[in-house]
Amino acid sequence: MSFPVDVVVMAAGKGTRMKSSRPKVLHRLGGRALAQHVIDTAARVSARSVVVITGHGAEQVEAGLVAPALESGEALKLQFVRQEPQLGTGHAVQQAVPVLPDDGVTLVLSGDVPLTRPETLQALLDLCGGRQLALLTLDMPDPTGYGRIVRAADGSVAAIVEHKDASDAQRAITEIYSGIMAVPTRLLRGWLARLDNQNAQSEYYLTDVVKFAVADGLPVQAHRITDALQVAGVNSPAQLAELERAYQRRVAEALMEQGVRLADPARLDVRGTLVCGQDVEIDVNCVFEGRVELGAGVHIGANCVIANAVIRAGAVIHPFTHIEGEKAGVSVGEGALIGPFARLRPGATLGREVHIGNFVEVKNSTLADGAKANHLAYLGDASVGERVNYGAGSITANYDGANKHRTVIEADVHVGSNCVLVAPVTIGAGGTVGGGSTITRDTPPGALSVARGRQTVIPNWQRPAKKKG
Ligand code: UD1
Ligand code: CA
Repeated sequence: MSFPVDVVVMAAGKGTRMKSSRPKVLHRLGGRALAQHVIDTAARVSARSVVVITGHGAEQVEAGLVAPALESGEALKLQFVRQEPQLGTGHAVQQAVPVLPDDGVTLVLSGDVPLTRPETLQALLDLCGGRQLALLTLDMPDPTGYGRIVRAADGSVAAIVEHKDASDAQRAITEIYSGIMAVPTRLLRGWLARLDNQNAQSEYYLTDVVKFAVADGLPVQAHRITDALQVAGVNSPAQLAELERAYQRRVAEALMEQGVRLADPARLDVRGTLVCGQDVEIDVNCVFEGRVELGAGVHIGANCVIANAVIRAGAVIHPFTHIEGEKAGVSVGEGALIGPFARLRPGATLGREVHIGNFVEVKNSTLADGAKANHLAYLGDASVGERVNYGAGSITANYDGANKHRTVIEADVHVGSNCVLVAPVTIGAGGTVGGGSTITRDTPPGALSVARGRQTVIPNWQRPAKKKG
């Protein structure tokens, strides 16, 4: 039983109760637009195409959604159709049918219902079987406002009656229409042509297709579920926040299922994709954005914000660290220790066992294995060699007001406290920069550079031996 599936996403409505200038379906849940969740779910039931019906804020909506990549590597076919003015859900789908091929099944979804599981949609499609109208329904203790599923004496579905059109007896029915249906496109096309707006809201109701199916002698199937979250829509900031928590709970459960140890699954926010190796531990109140990879044994302390970064095996990110890779990314090497209160910006590339301590900012810089900057420092546009020790209060002066320049600190250099390295500049391997120095010229390997007011370079200087213990 195989048939092509074309998804119609209804997203023309206004969403007045959001009290926002942003179109409702672009509000974010787990870092993605509401309607993007719906489109991504469509990709997971192997849809052939997705047609989004836009109206209010159409341009923004069209610009704010992307076609997801399919397993084949190709992008899902994504089209937009405008509905102007909005005359009801039936009228909305009427705008889409001209672009829907007759050989498929149309799966109708709402752009503001983000948490429907692909398995649920698959079960609905199976029930439709390419031949019948299938409705996703739900029992609701308080069905006020929803379309009611009216059944005949034999239990078969006879009609959907909207709340505003329903009799008292019908209003007592607790089985509601979720807003999701699967219907053979050829049949849908014919039924939509028969719609009228003779009802309490003077709208063209999509739900009237049920009575046409029954009139045509075609059985109507109902897939009745119990999980209200899967059909919950977002109409207000409070509902958005509620669904956000539900979504985060799902993400947390999936991570724990894989073995990730979360100090508190209720205090985790993943706004993108978090990929974890074995034995990862995450303390409370951490936020992950974009794509973040945590290698085996990584520990993330409390209150960290980490975006677009790769943290390699065994690294420890201490509390209150902010990592933002943006496009360039951030990479933290194996066994590195970062924070507390560290800031890693785009292009920070840290080798194995690098230590970045409190109030240290690193941007567009490479630190080779074993390099350390433990306190109050800035490294921007720098290449830092192996085992370099970069002192408290030291900075790279990488920007002259017009251009950025590179600082090169070769292996085993020791930069004292409160130094200013004025780029472009190279500190030769094994050298020492005396505390408080401002270095404006390259220094030779092994040199002690002390430049406070006057610039001095003492050649053949030997660093004192390090005390043991
Ligand atoms: C609809 C169903 C109702 C069901 C409920 C579930 C109809 C007539 N009624 O009611 O049986 O219980 O959903 O939530 O279908 N939209 C458009 N263009 C329009 C009107 C709506 O694109 O002209 C979109 C909205 O943006 C929304 C979706 O369709 O995404 C549903 O619209 P909404 O107004 O919420 O439908 P209800 O009247 O609540
Ligand atoms: Ca609604």
